[in-house]
Amino acid sequence: MSEDMLDRLVEKLDLVQKVRLLSGATTWRTAGEPAIGLREMVTSDGPAGVRGEAWDERLTSALLPSASAIGALWDEGLTEELGGLLASEAVRKGVDVVLAPTLNLHRTPLGGRHFECFSEDPVLTGRTGAALIRGIQAAGVAATAKHYVANDSETGRMHVDVRASERVLREVYLAPFEAAVEAGVWLVMAGYNGVNGATMTANPLLAEPLKGDWGFDGVVVSDWGALRSTREPALAALDLAMPGPQGPWEVLLVQAVEDGHVPEAAVDEKVRRLLRLALRVGALESNRRPSAPAFGSDETRTLLRRTVAAGSVLLTNRGVLPLAPASVRKVAVIGVHAGSPRVQGGGSAGVFPARVVTPLDGIRARLDGLAQVVHVPGPGLGVPPAPLGTGWCSDPRSGKPGVLVRLLDEAGRELHAEHRLSGTQLEPPVVPAARTVEISALLRPPATGEWTFAVAGFGRMSLALGGRTVLDGEFPCTTDDPAIVHVNPPRHAVRATVDSTEPVLLTARRELVPGAGRATIVAAAPPEPDAAAALAEAVRAARDADAVIVVVGTTEHTETEGHDRGDLCLGGHQDALVRAVAAVNPRTIAVVNSGGPVELPWRDEVGAVLLTWFPGQEAGSGLADVLFGDAEPGGRLPTTWAASLADAPVTHARPVDGRLAYDDGIHIGHRAWLRTGKEPAYWFGHGLGYTGWEYEAIHAPDEAVAGSPFTVRVQVRNTGSRPGREVVQVYLARPQSTVERPARWFAGYAAVHAEPGASVIAAVRVPAHALRHWSDTEKAWRTEPGTYQIMVGRSAGDLAWEGALTLRAV
Ligand code: BGC
Repeated sequence: MSEDMLDRLVEKLDLVQKVRLLSGATTWRTAGEPAIGLREMVTSDGPAGVRGEAWDERLTSALLPSASAIGALWDEGLTEELGGLLASEAVRKGVDVVLAPTLNLHRTPLGGRHFECFSEDPVLTGRTGAALIRGIQAAGVAATAKHYVANDSETGRMHVDVRASERVLREVYLAPFEAAVEAGVWLVMAGYNGVNGATMTANPLLAEPLKGDWGFDGVVVSDWGALRSTREPALAALDLAMPGPQGPWEVLLVQAVEDGHVPEAAVDEKVRRLLRLALRVGALESNRRPSAPAFGSDETRTLLRRTVAAGSVLLTNRGVLPLAPASVRKVAVIGVHAGSPRVQGGGSAGVFPARVVTPLDGIRARLDGLAQVVHVPGPGLGVPPAPLGTGWCSDPRSGKPGVLVRLLDEAGRELHAEHRLSGTQLEPPVVPAARTVEISALLRPPATGEWTFAVAGFGRMSLALGGRTVLDGEFPCTTDDPAIVHVNPPRHAVRATVDSTEPVLLTARRELVPGAGRATIVAAAPPEPDAAAALAEAVRAARDADAVIVVVGTTEHTETEGHDRGDLCLGGHQDALVRAVAAVNPRTIAVVNSGGPVELPWRDEVGAVLLTWFPGQEAGSGLADVLFGDAEPGGRLPTTWAASLADAPVTHARPVDGRLAYDDGIHIGHRAWLRTGKEPAYWFGHGLGYTGWEYEAIHAPDEAVAGSPFTVRVQVRNTGSRPGREVVQVYLARPQSTVERPARWFAGYAAVHAEPGASVIAAVRVPAHALRHWSDTEKAWRTEPGTYQIMVGRSAGDLAWEGALTLRAV
């Protein structure tokens, strides 16, 4: 179908029909229009997986490593394959539009959604995002570049007004979105925040550069609930208001057109874009897309396992890794995260994996029959209790593992009851007369003592144990942030003594009140072991083992949408635990399970430090591959890691009087570190493999022409005894510039594989864009002719070569 035919479809609709298409029909669906053969289109969150239309633990999804792990791949081919997997999941779940990738930047290490963004660097983020988009869209599923723009932290995210110059926006924060548009992305999501005084759903940046300069021909969709008025967003080039129904468009937009405040041509243009999307995803009668997913479960596992290894970043290695399975008879696996890893971050990106291979499972499977594996969790993490599951809870009615969810009317009569597998019920069934959600379970506590129980939600909530009320209170909703109201409401805890010999009935109730969402969570945690005794047990196990794998990490309470982090500490007694085991066993490998940077005060005391990020469902298999040398740790840091938060260039993102000034300007990430002259713990780009490399020869042009790309060819030799992959990076600098510049900036990379002893050439293409700068006075891109420095190396802080390039004007 051609563009002309889109026009003809638009002409068939009257104003009311057209406006109806511009708001969601439901939380996740766009509206359909039988008169023109248009069906509803289904959207669903990414980027770590495709949840589908329901928050239901029984509807499982493939769980990919989180975005920071994908940013660590520096591998567009593999990223594209992952995009294909997301598309396959979308097809399996009847989803047309995946709400991913997130293209915001790691401006501060405290960002709550750091795990959901690829990197600190606009070029790496743009290349990675473009690859994911290509992979998703190749299968006829739409990708969504979000959140346009400068939505880089969570504090006050619904209303914060980011202040940044046009140069800073164009060169840094808009750049990954420009790359997404170049890759042909079909949707862009306008964020909750404002930029320079206008909320993003009504911001002039939607028209320019997005739709004008860059020529974006897709749909601009609002973040969920971000539309706050009728006219301004309609005039400012927003196309689709989600969710629906009953948003600020619909009747009010019809009215605004009839009153002459919004031209009907603006509505037509939005509908045309929506129909173009329908054409692309096969939502018009004439062009249904294939309905079979491309990935089977074995292929999914293999791809995800490979990705875990490829994204793991080996920060230091004092000859400990890889561990030869034949060299160990007993391995101590230590830490709570070894048995209960954090496989994804919190918030709207969450999915329910069908399985999770824990680090302990992965290590046990690899060493099965070869060595003894001892697991000691060590001290507890001191975090709020985890939601009930199937472990020691059963449905009091059916006796099946899990919980019973009931909906009650005003008089407490049962209207609906169902068996569920989790104490997290974010979308209890909608029954019109229901006033209360009740979650109950028969607990068989594995330990006697003082347990912690918690309920989460808004409104009146109570919790009873064996018929005795232990918590009863009113918890009013004080936020409009959907990630808190619908996904992660605050938990209210109480302690109570339970006896492991006596099953006890737990009953939690939450009153349903308008405007406060329906999410209801019931959680419980056993008494924490005595920290000193747990530490001593871990030390004993470490002393007695040939190698120690200590897994530490963050929790769902630190890295989650809706909040920024307060510090970069691992929390609990985890630092003490690593130190204590490393002190008695030099073959200690610290595995860090976090989505973003954490302080590693013991990093010089351990044999190796390996980052696994939030690794998704195949966490343990991919980790075991790396630990035992079946795969190389392939990742490179997508973000500079501070030794301590106090050193970081941007240490908070707290708005002042509602404004957040991006005073750091164009100096984001490694650029900012270079400017301050401080040394981070690990630079952007850093990561070790299992072999050594020599940079033998570098051929970079002496001259180039403004506006044309050039290539730097780097010959590297694998000097070790194993095959390996090297990521060759190119940075640029312009010391004599007439405009402010970063000390140096990342311009491109190429990854090469080589067998032991072999020499290969990495060809790093530097796009013409890498040399331009935005002139705020001329409101245009400019390229200064003259001398630039080209630097080649293994990270932003480890450069092997430097040369000069003269750029000639065209
Ligand atoms: C998030 C988006 C997400 C949307 C729908 C919002 O709160 O910011 O990233 O796509 O919810 O779940």
